[in-house]
Amino acid sequence: MEKFYHIVTYGCQMNVHESEKIAGILSELGYKHCDSPEQADIVVFNTCCIRENAENHAFGNIGMLKKLKSRRKDMLIAVGGCLPQQLNKAENLHEKFPYVDIIFGTHNLHNLKELIKLKLGRKKTVIQIDEREGEICEDDKPLRTSYPNAWVNIMYGCNNFCSYCIVPYVRGRERSRSSEKIIEEVRSLVAEGYKEITLLGQNVNSYRGELTFPQLLERIALIEGKFRIRFMTSHPKDFSLELIEVMAKYPKKICRCLHLPVQSGSDRILREMNRRYTSADYLEKVRMLKAAIPECAVTTDLIVGFPGETDGDFKDTLKLVKKVGFASAFTFVYSKRAGTRAAEMPDQVPEEVSKARIIELVELVNSQTRAMSQTYIGKTVEILCEGYDEKRGLYLGRDEFGRMGYFASDENLVGKFVDILVDGANGVSLTGKVV
Ligand code: 5AD
Ligand code: SF4
Repeated sequence: MEKFYHIVTYGCQMNVHESEKIAGILSELGYKHCDSPEQADIVVFNTCCIRENAENHAFGNIGMLKKLKSRRKDMLIAVGGCLPQQLNKAENLHEKFPYVDIIFGTHNLHNLKELIKLKLGRKKTVIQIDEREGEICEDDKPLRTSYPNAWVNIMYGCNNFCSYCIVPYVRGRERSRSSEKIIEEVRSLVAEGYKEITLLGQNVNSYRGELTFPQLLERIALIEGKFRIRFMTSHPKDFSLELIEVMAKYPKKICRCLHLPVQSGSDRILREMNRRYTSADYLEKVRMLKAAIPECAVTTDLIVGFPGETDGDFKDTLKLVKKVGFASAFTFVYSKRAGTRAAEMPDQVPEEVSKARIIELVELVNSQTRAMSQTYIGKTVEILCEGYDEKRGLYLGRDEFGRMGYFASDENLVGKFVDILVDGANGVSLTGKVV
């Protein structure tokens, strides 16, 4: 009898890749992918807790499976990742959703196979949450789902303790994978035909394997073949000239695109956030980058409504956004996370104030993104074709700067680099004709 799995993923790229590892483990156990929980023999929720709404979303979806589980008692439900890793949350989850079969933490993902076997042999819920990160597990072979793109972890965890952020508490301290193992993995991905490799870590600039991050990046750029390299995330305090030099040296391989989360433009708020740079430091890094790579697109993350943020602080953020001219930005309303330093701070900003600020910020960011899209019209850009959009009847992909482009073709172009002449710019995305 065939057995099926269904995975629901919340949160960041890191989690998307971790779901590929979960898929790898499940397929080793003989499960095959299916699109809906109704057909599945096991449903895995790979959760995120970075903001309250990600958490609520997961809670809602787990709750919705109650009925299905009461009809199909032998279906397994597993909840893993950041949500149960938080202090007391696993017990909480178990009380709230007693029908969940397996609860596992971020440090227990590689044990999932054993946890499933354990659960199949008993009635009681299996809960495994290790408080501390263990050794890096190199055994999990991901079942990759996003050809021609492939994600590669270079490090795990975070030591920065930005005062608003739960990540260091649920992902543990920084640990880096071996440089040789990473290079080997990228080499085999390129040999298999992957065309875009994204190196992943909470703060890639503090990578410490046998090599430093710029050295590692250079070694990867020297791997033969036509493919692109991206990396994320860079913390501005650690973003170095050495890294800029490597990026500038290999423009054909390393995308001229940098994700550099600034969070706020106010020095006082940056200090309270424990970011360890000022807005002037940030602007200087961007200046150095653009001096070396003038076309480089810079993207960022911004938070509004951090405790104590005044109108003046928010204006400083708007000012910085105008100065930098981000190609795009992820904008967030501050979300209070229990256990973090910011959660204890007085002067939490009222919701309606944060709402008004995020609307203003999104408008500014979008107007910049739209203006940048317009400058593409009439130009030819190289797009890596990633898929086919059924609704539009067009192929789609991104250029090295991360901009989405749509185009028609009779031939299946997924996984190919395609030159398109841009004839339309529609907000954040482009349309064009293959040339
Ligand atoms: N509230 C809002 N946004 C947050 N981020 C991290 N923690 C929080 C929080 N508590 C944002 C930051 C980070 C991105 C991944 O998520 O902008 O760069
Ligand atoms: Fe969170 Fe800061 Fe670490 Fe990023 S660098 S994961 S925002 S603590």
